[in-house]
Amino acid sequence: MAVVPYKDQNQNKKSQVATMFNNIAGKYDFLNHFLSAGIDIIWRKKAVSLLAPEKPKQVLDIATGTADFAIETLRLNPDKITGVDISEGMLAVGREKLAKRGLTNKIELKYGDSEDLPFADNTFDAITVAFGVRNFENLEKGLSEMHRVLKPGGMAVVLEFSKPRSFPMKQLYQFYFKNILPVVGKLVSKDNAAYTYLPESVQAFPDGQQFLDIYHKVGFRNTKWHSLTFGISSIYTGKK
Ligand SMILES: C[S@@+](CC[C@H](N)C(=O)[O-])C[C@H]1O[C@@H](n2cnc3c(N)ncnc32)[C@H](O)[C@@H]1O
Repeated sequence: MAVVPYKDQNQNKKSQVATMFNNIAGKYDFLNHFLSAGIDIIWRKKAVSLLAPEKPKQVLDIATGTADFAIETLRLNPDKITGVDISEGMLAVGREKLAKRGLTNKIELKYGDSEDLPFADNTFDAITVAFGVRNFENLEKGLSEMHRVLKPGGMAVVLEFSKPRSFPMKQLYQFYFKNILPVVGKLVSKDNAAYTYLPESVQAFPDGQQFLDIYHKVGFRNTKWHSLTFGISSIYTGKK
């Protein structure tokens, strides 16, 4: 059974996830930085630095949301970044941010489903996804689509929450994630489910070596796993 945000509803995971992000879009950036004490910004920077040696020119940012990862990737001076997402609410916040910063000539945001990407084979030099793959309805299909639209030799960089495994971080993290984060998240976002879904979806997600196995199965090679901040997050890189 897939972990979904609204357990009393019977839409599939994809439409529930889109609804959830539409609901919290206005508060997403604030909550992200507040609940992670800003560490999410450091994690995105680290992910972008792993991509730097590739000097990608055409970049696709999947599950781009409000475009934070795409904006961070501008540091690599690509010709263009395309961001896709299934939540129009998140894309609207992202577009407003890009317009305010004068970045609309470099980053284009559009509706796009990771499991059916609206691009031809071998289009991008690099693909990035931050905190997106855990939300896919069909992880293997999403990763296969990433592989399909990546150019041969191109690199995919996936940043995602993972589960710390050693004492005392494991216990502290579980307490925070299960008891504090859902309460603050609900209070600020006014969505009853989003910040309960977050720890549940992290718990159910195949992290670490399990993720690398799936990455490899869909065709990625030179796959590597970089554990961040006691294993709270991980970066997975792979090449086509
Ligand atoms: C936690 S947000 C991450 C946003 C951004 N990447 C960041 O680093 O802040 C997850 C995003 O994934 C999007 N998403 C979930 N499933 C998706 C899918 N199948 N295709 C495209 N986007 C998807 C959601 O709409 C949401 O905006």
